[in-house]
Amino acid sequence: MTYDVAAVRAHFPALEEGAAHFDGPGGAQVPGLVADAVAGTLRAAVSNRGIRSAAERRADDIVTGARRAVADLLAGEPGGVVFGRSMTQLTYDMARALAKEWRPGDEVVVTTLDHDANIRPWVHAAEPRGVTVRRAGFDPASGELEVEAVAGLLTGRTRLVAVTAASNLLGTRPDIPAIAERVHAAGALLYVDGVHLTPHSLVDAGRFGADFYVCSPYKFLGPHLGVLAADPALLRTIHPDKLLASADAVPERFELGTLPYELLAGTTAAVDFLARLVPGKGSRRERLAVSMAALERHERAMLERLEAGLAGIAGVTFHGSPRRDRTPTTLFSLDRVAPADAYRLLAERGVNAPAGHFYALECSRGLGLGDAGAIRAGIAPYTDESDVDRLVEGVREIAG
Ligand SMILES: Cc1ncc(COP(=O)(O)O)c(C=O)c1O
Repeated sequence: MTYDVAAVRAHFPALEEGAAHFDGPGGAQVPGLVADAVAGTLRAAVSNRGIRSAAERRADDIVTGARRAVADLLAGEPGGVVFGRSMTQLTYDMARALAKEWRPGDEVVVTTLDHDANIRPWVHAAEPRGVTVRRAGFDPASGELEVEAVAGLLTGRTRLVAVTAASNLLGTRPDIPAIAERVHAAGALLYVDGVHLTPHSLVDAGRFGADFYVCSPYKFLGPHLGVLAADPALLRTIHPDKLLASADAVPERFELGTLPYELLAGTTAAVDFLARLVPGKGSRRERLAVSMAALERHERAMLERLEAGLAGIAGVTFHGSPRRDRTPTTLFSLDRVAPADAYRLLAERGVNAPAGHFYALECSRGLGLGDAGAIRAGIAPYTDESDVDRLVEGVREIAG
């Protein structure tokens, strides 16, 4: 199915401001339909969830609708979809809840490829309980995290492994199903950060073998919040701190306070938008499969054009040379321009390609880029050839 990028772009009011956006890995621009869903919810009568008034029922429908939408996106179960303010908040909360059962001498494994939001919450939960944190290292030359790097750290005391499904710095994608097999054979749980992968690829969290899969709607054309998906049966075994009066049911027991109904409505609209990127038939999940496959082909073509253009410019160094599949994200430096200056000079040309470590701090340091990091260009559903050419031209000008 052909991907009509001009038709997709027409849905994004923000693009009318004229910038070429390569900052999607930090947060995507949003289709008008998503903004309308958020505003429409704020304009409508909405109370707390309930069954008596129309306003209560609307709130309830919004929540159950958003759980169904996310379950379709991730091939999960609606009853295992937890909403929170961000992936970071959900991960801190889950780490604290799981750590209640950890004992001194237990172990958790994190990776140096990960965003800090999938490292620090586990370190902070582990340290006060005498739980050892082991770090699986990635290969700085390729940017790959090998299965053995994780598997080699597993012991009979490993309680949990936290690993990314895709590096937000390099785009490399660890082999999660293979890691899951080893983690489960060791009797541990697998917590997968899907924030950077979910916008670019059809996810099947179950097939991945993820016990927990977290992502953030604002990276996949939705509003700012976070999502955690897990088997409801697993969630029922976990008891987070919660208010005495609040629901003890799953998934509600993990959702502290009142949910942001307008953002949930926006999340459903974002999933529906993704399912309609190209025309298709069938269930929303089936349409998502067709749409995400078309999106992947489009984004791959844009990435290839970008990397070919940048490769022809003297003084451009790419970081990592991934052998396997990766997301359409590329990280590069310029020999004669500091990352922060390149970022500013590109922004002055209307090209938004930020530089930094993007909170993948251990990854940036492991690559030898320190805390300054490098320039990251991420392809998004609305990226077209003219955007790519503007970035390449901008880099050519400032590199010279
Ligand atoms: C790979 C990855 N994980 C986690 C996060 C944190 O997500 P949130 O802002 O929802 O806490 C980000 C944000 O950039 C990310 O890119």
